[in-house]
Amino acid sequence: MTLRIGFLGAGFISRTHRWFLRRTHVDHRIVAVHDPDPARAAHLAERTGAEVVDEDRLLDSVDVVFVTTWTSEHERLVLEAARRGVAVVCEKPLAFDAEGAARMAAAVEAAGVASHVGLILRAMPQVLLTRHLLTETAAGRPLTIAFRDDQFIPVQGYYDSTWRADPARAGRGTLLEHSIHDIDVIAQLAGPVRRVSGVVREVHGLDRIDDLAVARLDLDTDAVATLTSIWHDIVERPSQRHVEVFAERLVVTLDGTPEGVLTWQHTGESPQALQGRALAERCAALGLGRAADIVEVGTGAMFNPLTPFLEAVRDGTPPPLPLRSAVDAHAVVDAIYRSADLDGETVEVSGPS
Ligand SMILES: NC(=O)c1ccc[n+]([C@@H]2O[C@H](COP(=O)([O-])OP(=O)(O)OC[C@H]3O[C@@H](n4cnc5c(N)ncnc54)[C@H](O)[C@@H]3O)[C@@H](O)[C@H]2O)c1
Repeated sequence: MTLRIGFLGAGFISRTHRWFLRRTHVDHRIVAVHDPDPARAAHLAERTGAEVVDEDRLLDSVDVVFVTTWTSEHERLVLEAARRGVAVVCEKPLAFDAEGAARMAAAVEAAGVASHVGLILRAMPQVLLTRHLLTETAAGRPLTIAFRDDQFIPVQGYYDSTWRADPARAGRGTLLEHSIHDIDVIAQLAGPVRRVSGVVREVHGLDRIDDLAVARLDLDTDAVATLTSIWHDIVERPSQRHVEVFAERLVVTLDGTPEGVLTWQHTGESPQALQGRALAERCAALGLGRAADIVEVGTGAMFNPLTPFLEAVRDGTPPPLPLRSAVDAHAVVDAIYRSADLDGETVEVSGPS
């Protein structure tokens, strides 16, 4: 069976998805593309042999749709795909808030269609092995995660998007649009997140588009994490994360990239380090990912996030990272914004009603 794939949105992130699609063994063909920007639609169609069609026709002619539009369109398009029984990949953030994300998750579940959310850091060997190390008794209890994430404000440089400066299309700024990944990783490593306090700033003067967010996250494990998320103007500097994780008898350092070095040290042992394919293979040997899904990215390696999803669509089995997986991270983001509105008061994380 050849899965027929369509793209709603032919911008930056559609290229990343195509890169993974070119490297999957699951039989598929990109057959349709729609983007209100005709040049972008034509470009993607030309590169894939797909047809440029309208939204209706696209949803009627595919088995899987990739919703890679700006955020404000995600919910409407996911609900429409679910209504027509089409499997969906949707980019993060799913929606402006956890209520929207939960509606989307409920819609695909009620329709019985497979879904996948673009929380790409879940496919990074660095994150998978760190999580594994923290579960081992040798680590002791998790204590703290210091998470710094910085990138140039993406209304310039190679992102060059105008919509990220527009709250009607982006919702909010760096915390929602970018650091929802980081919140999800923190929760994966030592969560869930119980309560938070935070401050956000709009240094660039864009209404509701935070370009600095600093938060404290209290985790169920009794660990405490800090997140600093920055949108600056150092256009020459690539997007970077620096993460330090301390447990009672373990320290881990990572940067969340496929190329980066993962270093760790246990009490009584010398520091260890792994990177690239060797790191991905260690994960596979531990059952944290499948060796067949390892893809090389530059000098690094990660797991192809699309292969297990496409297999699930093809075989009618449960997908590993459905939209529901992102709802908790949305609830944490909502809570940090709520805290910021209360001048940094500590607030409980509450799920959508
Ligand atoms: N997972 C990640 O690491 C990651 C990285 C970058 C972006 N993203 C997410 O991907 C989404 C898109 O971001 P981008 O950087 O590709 O933006 P982009 O501006 O490069 O592309 C978005 C495209 O969507 C099109 N579009 C808008 N409404 C549409 C509709 N109704 N139907 C079809 N196309 C429509 C726009 O014309 C534009 O071409 C955002 O939600 C963003 O947060 C995720």
